[in-house]
Formats: sequence, structure tokens, C-alpha cells
Amino acid sequence: METPSDLTKRLEVAIRAAHAAGEILREGFRSSIIAYDTKSNRNDPVTEFDLRADHTIVDIIRDHFPTDGVLSEESGEDGVCINGQWVIDPLDGTNNFSRRIPHFAVSVAFCDRYRPLTACIYDPLRNETYSAVRGKGAYLNKSAIRVSTQAALDGAFLGVGTSGRPALRERIHKQMPPFLRTARALRSTGSAALDLAYVAAGRFDGIWYPSLHWWDVAAGILLIEEAGGRSTEYQGNPFAGAISSMVASNGRVHDALLSYLKEEPDGTR
Ligand code: IPD
Ligand code: CA
Ligand code: CA
Repeated sequence: METPSDLTKRLEVAIRAAHAAGEILREGFRSSIIAYDTKSNRNDPVTEFDLRADHTIVDIIRDHFPTDGVLSEESGEDGVCINGQWVIDPLDGTNNFSRRIPHFAVSVAFCDRYRPLTACIYDPLRNETYSAVRGKGAYLNKSAIRVSTQAALDGAFLGVGTSGRPALRERIHKQMPPFLRTARALRSTGSAALDLAYVAAGRFDGIWYPSLHWWDVAAGILLIEEAGGRSTEYQGNPFAGAISSMVASNGRVHDALLSYLKEEPDGTR
């Protein structure tokens, strides 16, 4: 059982690791060449900076907490789970990064299975650090953050995630009409982690994604919960699985979002 002081210590290390990775990403973003390979499909790139950021975070965490488990997008899962598991996305928004679009982040969470206990999402170009410890609120840098107060989809500021998979892109296309009719704005930013942080900070009222991995969302889920919002998969259940659909909101517009999405197949199908 982790005590509050253990979690605060873990948050300090999460922030230190995210900042160290952010330094690598800033440097990479300014380098003359950003070469990439592809992973699961041709729209899923990985750069040397994803890997360097990943190794840096994992090294810092293992150095401080050698008996904690690690699941990281680029170096996998080590199978350890004595105290809990660190869940790491070293560069969320690699497509943006590879095209020098200045919108990407580092996401680091410490979790008890699918229950995040500490969270840090770091935007290295804006130097924005989003952080949370369960039960202690959510912060942007040193300021407490809350979700927005928008009460209806009519006039809501929404974000929608795309996918590299053509079949999922077609589904998203089909989901659009009610949101296009009612939203004040509809954005597709290319960073799920920042979208979640923006819901927590009241910048977005709600977002939805057809298919995300646990490392995309672990930190964001806690930030949103601590900021007073809600996150589920399309059917309204908590995100609990390696891959799932995701709906996150200020809570007030959540059921309205789900009403248009709950019949949709989630990201695993
Ligand atoms: C991706 C981003 C993107 C989302 C993709 C994710 P990555 O993460 O969050 O916004 O649409 O599904 O895979 O690959 O850049 O870490
Ligand atoms: Ca990601
Ligand atoms: Ca990534």
C-alpha cells in the first residue's frame, strides 16, 4: 500500500524524468533532420528521440525505484509489479514532432493496475507541467486546475482523435454529424496526452478517441479525475485494458457525448 508521501516522492521523480525527456525532445525538434521508422502501420512513426526519451525516463525511474514495474511504449513491460507499475509514453504526438508541428508531450504515470496514482504530462515547448497525486488535486505548473463548466454539447469546445487505421478513420467520419452541428469548435490536435491535459485544465470540454493505448491515457485519466472530470470508454465503463476507446470530459457533457458514441465498436474491434 503506497502512502501519500511515497506518491509525492514518486511524483517528484516523474516530473524530473519527464523534464529530462522533454530536454531531449526540444533538442530533437530543433535538429536538422528528424528521420523516422514505422511501427504497427505506415502511419505510426517512431524517431530516435522517442527511444532516447524513453531510455532516459526508464533509467531515472529504475534508479530511484528499482522494485517498481515499468510499462513503456518503446521498451515494453518488465513484468515486475511489487509496488505498482510506471506507465510511460516518452513522446505522445510523434507524427506532429516528425513534421515539426509544435504540439507533443511526455506522459508518465505510476499506477496500481489500471488505477493511476500519480501523473505527469509535460509539454516541453510551452514548458507546461501538468501533475496530480490521487486525492490531492491537479496542477498546471504550480496552479490548481479544474475542468470547464460547459453544461451542454451545444456550444462545447471538443477534440476528436484520429487513428492510423483506415477502418477507424471511416468510423470517426460517420460519427461526426451531431458534433459538427452543435460544437463551438472541433479540434484534432495529434496528441492524446495533451488533449486529456487540456480537458483537466478546462481548455477542452470533451474529447473522444476510437482507440488508445494505456500509456496514452494513464496520466491523463488521473489529471481529469483530480480536476473534477470524467473519463470512460465508449460504453461508459472505466478504461481498463491495453487498448480501448476513450471519452473524456468535464463530466457535465459526458453522457451527451456517450449518447452518440455508445453504439460504436471500441478500439479493440
Ligand atoms: C498517438 C497520439 C495521437 C493518437 C494516436 C496515438 P504517439 O500517440 O496520441 O493523437 O491519435 O492514436 O497513438 O504514437 O504519438 O505516441
Ligand atoms: Ca501516444
Ligand atoms: Ca509515443
